Amino acid sequence: MKSFLKFWFYLINWTRIHDSILLAPFEKRDRIIYFAKRSGSVNFVETGSYHGDTSKELARIVDRVITIEIDPANAEVAKNNCAEFSNISVFCGPSEDILGGLISGLAGPTLFWLDAHYQIGMTKGKSACPLFLELDIIFNHPRISPIILVDDARKFLWINGWPSLASVRRFVESRGYSFRVSHDMICIGKFSM
Ligand SMILES: C[S@@+](CC[C@H](N)C(=O)[O-])C[C@H]1O[C@@H](n2cnc3c(N)ncnc32)[C@H](O)[C@@H]1O
Repeated sequence: MKSFLKFWFYLINWTRIHDSILLAPFEKRDRIIYFAKRSGSVNFVETGSYHGDTSKELARIVDRVITIEIDPANAEVAKNNCAEFSNISVFCGPSEDILGGLISGLAGPTLFWLDAHYQIGMTKGKSACPLFLELDIIFNHPRISPIILVDDARKFLWINGWPSLASVRRFVESRGYSFRVSHDMICIGKFSM
């Protein structure tokens, strides 16, 4: 019965993923840059740095970049990789625990790239997908105008510790934000998208 229900959730979620063409990493970065420019973001905050390549691209567009990586080895690579950019700060820890403290001093339009998702073989935080905790921290921030992009929309299937796309949508809309999915990214903001 449970498998049957999961199968239907899978199908329903899949049909909700409009425009679900997968992008290459450089195409994803182009899209993130497009959102940064369009929103006039002054800050870029990334959860799940991996080796810091996306942060490096965004450091050319915004004033301040904060990127968070749970895995100490990846964080070390990211620090070295981003060393030439004085406006990038790489932090090591679970995003759900340290995001709030790190963004508390920010103000103004801020683009978030939420990509701290567990994949097999990687370091795991408290959950496979800390998205709700991250969103709650961002929505409660009093001084930023957030534009939020979440990677891997196709994986929000209510399996393997990931929530369903529908539950993310309900959560986001209950907090007064718009929600849409495009090219495997969830886009959340207060502007019309
Ligand atoms: C898909 S990679 C990120 C790619 C990167 N954002 C980019 O655009 O190039 C996901 C990263 O998230 C990290 N990660 C997983 N769970 C995390 C958590 N709870 N907090 C911070 N980082 C996490 C993983 O160690 C991994 O390096």
